[in-house]
Amino acid sequence: MTIDLNAVLQHKAINQWRLFWLVSAPMSIVMIIEMMGIDLTDAAAVSHMISYSVRWAVPIIFLVTAISALQVLFPGPLPKWLLRNRKYIGMCFAVAMAWQGLFIFLMSTFFRDHYFAEIFYLRDELEGSTGYIFLTAMVVTSFRFGRKHLNAQQWKLLHKSGLYFLWAYPFSVYWWNLSYYENPQPIDHLFYWSGFLAFALRIAAWGMKRRQAACRGSPARGAPVMFRIFGGALIAFGLFVAATGLHWQKPVTDFLLAPAWSANLVLWLPYWPFEPYLSLFIMGLGTWLATKIRA
Ligand code: HEM
Repeated sequence: MTIDLNAVLQHKAINQWRLFWLVSAPMSIVMIIEMMGIDLTDAAAVSHMISYSVRWAVPIIFLVTAISALQVLFPGPLPKWLLRNRKYIGMCFAVAMAWQGLFIFLMSTFFRDHYFAEIFYLRDELEGSTGYIFLTAMVVTSFRFGRKHLNAQQWKLLHKSGLYFLWAYPFSVYWWNLSYYENPQPIDHLFYWSGFLAFALRIAAWGMKRRQAACRGSPARGAPVMFRIFGGALIAFGLFVAATGLHWQKPVTDFLLAPAWSANLVLWLPYWPFEPYLSLFIMGLGTWLATKIRA
């Protein structure tokens, strides 16, 4: 007996708002069970819940980041289903983040001394708050009443920037866990490489579209062979950079922060000086070269 995956994925139980409830209701129940097992009058327990809740959100934002690329690279029923339900999957991320928001609220309201002594750091606060502002704007403009205030271009700009910002936050957290601290947990590896893969897929899809556009009608317009070799070498180097952060993070950070203006920026500019993203930047450059259109 063969199963028609397309037909299965059309089932209304796993589409749109039903999919949203299917994911976010059990997730919230698990969150409540975890909460009931600990003593929320203790700051450390609230801190645990902040991490616990966001760990549900992270795989979802990485998946949302990869969806459009999956559709380009591996067209088929599953990527199509993901694309169709991207809004609802995004809403599940918002629910997990709302839980984190609740625990952050508890921490900053009832454990103010602990919050300001142990947690508050201006740049982190700016990054986190910007993330929540983006998230709120994205949720509101996912419904007709919010969407009607934006034109198509503004909507796209908001959702793309928000997605990148919300991907960048956890990706950098896990990059630092692997590249700064010497005893990362298995989950740090899992989340770092998932975040990396999500964005690398976007780069690959972008490269594929560029190559198709270049070769459309005339294969001779593809990138010269030297560009392709050099581009491929850059992509391989980017992978190497991605896997070896612990060995280069310190000298590279020292170098990038050497000028006074740069050391100043690190105090407040989110993600500055962008070390976690160097590998993906190099891979993007390689892809750009390898898919350059011949004049
Ligand atoms: C003002 C807003 C925010 C505050 C105050 C905040 C606070 C915190 C705190 C205190 C922790 C550490 C908990 C612990 O280990 O003791 C944490 C972890 C984390 N936060 Fe946030 N956060 C904010 C926004 C965000 C946003 C927007 C994201 C984006 C997805 C995010 C992603 C994470 C991640 C990935 C972790 C690490 C979880 C782990 O341990 O695996 N946070 N946050």
